[in-house]
Amino acid sequence: MSKVLIVGAGGVGGVVAHKCAQNREVFTDILLASRTLSRCEKIQKEIEELQGRKIRITQVDADDVKQTVALLQKEKPALLINVALPYQDLPLMDACLAAGVPYLDTANYEPPDVAKFEYSWQWAYQERYQKAGLMALLGSGFDPGVTNVFCAYAQKHLFDEIHTVDILDCNGGSHGHPFATNFNPEINLREITQNGRYWEDGEWKETKPLEQHFPFDYPGVGERESYLLYHEELESLVKNIRGLKRIRFYMTFGQEYLTHLRVLGNIGMTRIDPVEFQGHKIVPIQFLKALLPDPSSLGATYTGKTSIGCLIEGVKNGKPRKVFIYNICDHAECWKEVRSQAISYTTGVPAVVGATMMLQGLWKKPGVFNMEQLDPDPFLDELAKRGLPWHVKEL
Ligand SMILES: NC(=O)c1ccc[n+]([C@@H]2O[C@H](COP(=O)([O-])OP(=O)(O)OC[C@H]3O[C@@H](n4cnc5c(N)ncnc54)[C@H](OP(=O)(O)O)[C@@H]3O)[C@@H](O)[C@H]2O)c1
Repeated sequence: MSKVLIVGAGGVGGVVAHKCAQNREVFTDILLASRTLSRCEKIQKEIEELQGRKIRITQVDADDVKQTVALLQKEKPALLINVALPYQDLPLMDACLAAGVPYLDTANYEPPDVAKFEYSWQWAYQERYQKAGLMALLGSGFDPGVTNVFCAYAQKHLFDEIHTVDILDCNGGSHGHPFATNFNPEINLREITQNGRYWEDGEWKETKPLEQHFPFDYPGVGERESYLLYHEELESLVKNIRGLKRIRFYMTFGQEYLTHLRVLGNIGMTRIDPVEFQGHKIVPIQFLKALLPDPSSLGATYTGKTSIGCLIEGVKNGKPRKVFIYNICDHAECWKEVRSQAISYTTGVPAVVGATMMLQGLWKKPGVFNMEQLDPDPFLDELAKRGLPWHVKEL
């Protein structure tokens, strides 16, 4: 019997609200809050049609801590699920602390004016959450999220020592637009246009953006060129996976996408600093976001699959071992079930599974946690039941 407050009514927020609505035993009262009420109304209507359940909605500006605290004090939810943008992580963590409500998110904090993401800002809440007896679960999406749990599962069951991890993220689907991003364009483009970074032999190594790449044969999709990026789960996995010698993250991109990205970058459209335009200051990447298709609108025409997993090498019982732990998700199936594409689905389902772990007391400790610090078994059981079956392929 739990009341949950979901903040953010975008592509991921929609999936989270639908999946909570499907699980009547755990989520007995669902409140969806976002900056723009009309987006909540649209999701509320779809949930009534598809899941046969009425959720409650309200407007909130999550940048305003006082406003969120007032909402939390009025509603007294058992958990706040943050699926707004990474910029809202710290104000929402502050609000949860002030109101005594546990917290969960899917992406780590980024300051709006610097394209830089790292856990230091959120890890700094550790003592305050511990003292308040509250839990904060960080990065409960797919990557970060399920990928961290795959590593924890490998550490617990499949290996005595893990030497290398390559996280491999493939979207083998097609949305029919010449150029679009699958989640918030501003956050997505900031991530891709940064220098690449990976960890090897105890130190971080940098590459130019998308400089290092290789072809990988993804189950359910086939061979795709995969490009090295820096991704936030590397930072926590380096600390929490014992004996690790190297960890990298790769994502696939098609040539058409890369050509658009290069042109946009060359002409300054991915800049995050304000520029003067007809007497106004505008941030080019925010203007670009306004022109690009809304990620939550892509689902209707999306076909194909995502295939995301962890390629892990190490030793078990004195012998070398190599496995790929992965999930395949079909865009069109996601649309039928919850009116979303697979990128939002593979993020929203793990957020709801993480919430279920916390609300059922299976994951319940005071403090700030990354996913791999908790028992992977109940999470992975629930994940498979809730729409994301996973597999281990011995290589
Ligand atoms: N871990 C993973 O695997 C993974 C993968 C993909 C995405 N993500 C994360 O998931 C989150 C959501 O992504 P998305 O694609 O759903 O983004 P999105 O479609 O842009 O939706 C973001 C939502 O947050 C709302 N919002 C923004 N600022 C707000 C504020 N100050 N107060 C209240 N609501 C606010 C937006 O409201 P408006 O409608 O008013 O703009 C919008 O409804 C992001 O943090 C993203 O980084 C994680």
